[in-house]
Amino acid sequence: MTGHAKLENDLIAQIAGAADEAALEAVRVSALGKKGSVSELLKGLGAMSPEERKEQGAKINALRDRVSAALEKKKSELKEKAIAGKLASEAADVTLPVRAAPAETGRIHPISQVVEELTAIFADMGFSVADGPDVETDFYNFTALNFPAGHPAREMHDTFFFPPDANGERKLLRTHTSPVQIRSMQKQKPPIKIIIPGRTYRSDSDQTHTPMFHQVEGLVIDKKSHLGHLKWILAEFCKAFFEVDDVKMRFRPSFFPFTEPSMEVDIQCDRSGGDIKFGQGNDWLEILGCGMVHPNVLRNCGLDPDEYQGFAWGMGIDRIAMLKYGMPDLRPFFEADVRWIEHYGFRPLDFPTLAGGLST
Ligand code: DAH
Repeated sequence: MTGHAKLENDLIAQIAGAADEAALEAVRVSALGKKGSVSELLKGLGAMSPEERKEQGAKINALRDRVSAALEKKKSELKEKAIAGKLASEAADVTLPVRAAPAETGRIHPISQVVEELTAIFADMGFSVADGPDVETDFYNFTALNFPAGHPAREMHDTFFFPPDANGERKLLRTHTSPVQIRSMQKQKPPIKIIIPGRTYRSDSDQTHTPMFHQVEGLVIDKKSHLGHLKWILAEFCKAFFEVDDVKMRFRPSFFPFTEPSMEVDIQCDRSGGDIKFGQGNDWLEILGCGMVHPNVLRNCGLDPDEYQGFAWGMGIDRIAMLKYGMPDLRPFFEADVRWIEHYGFRPLDFPTLAGGLST
């Protein structure tokens, strides 16, 4: 084999063996670069006789062309191989099942959902939302609400008290949302039209009672609001919340220290079919307490009862959530069991509105 043929064979073998474009480029430089083996051959032509140069020149140029062609061919092969590898590594199997988006797997707790629902209903009637602290003083939870010192109504609440502080004052966990009535009347001049959803606490635990639970309070104070307005508001609320066209209500006389007169409200329901239906039937279910705000409560907030009057009500949120969504036991509400929330929870993007439907 001549020197040229051997060189060509070597180069072709190196080209064929180049694993990637960088290795191929190294082969190209070693052959066709300024100091490459083929370039060196071409440089040697200058020292030859014209005949020899003609013959050798043609041969070396042909060799260079074949090496160039082999380089080009290999280069495009490597390019294609690289693209094919990339495509293979990025391939998506479109037949795989779609993974649920986080917004689809998360769930809204029924209590949050019901708070959103009742806020939407009362906001539509012109109410705004007020809140207050969970840790309260005896004054706001009892005294200002006209619970006399030593009155048995204080005992009825199974209050959680904190140990006395340096001044001997015993703070407590609010037993109802009613203290926020006082805080709101102290802060804001009438007319007042608020709802107060929030956490409340009593030392009690069974299938329908948990030590922490939720209430929503309503308060309307102005110069002429009366029980007729209260009845209308509660009836509209029940129809909207339970999503029925009509609902009968029964107002029974009752006692709360902070209202006079005081009433408990039952709504018509039907328990004959095993589960409970609203807007029909011959059964009654107690859902809330209400009344005209007691003159002493107005006085305790610096309002003149001869000038201002109004009404209030208080309702258990957990209870109406259980009734509406058919949940038999209250305790799992607070057990953080993922299976329960997956079953009873609501989709995060289905925000309740009156126009769009509350629970759809
Ligand atoms: N605070 C009462 C309770 O927890 C509920 C209640 C009754 C609130 C009558 C009111 C009301 O505002 O007027 O038992």
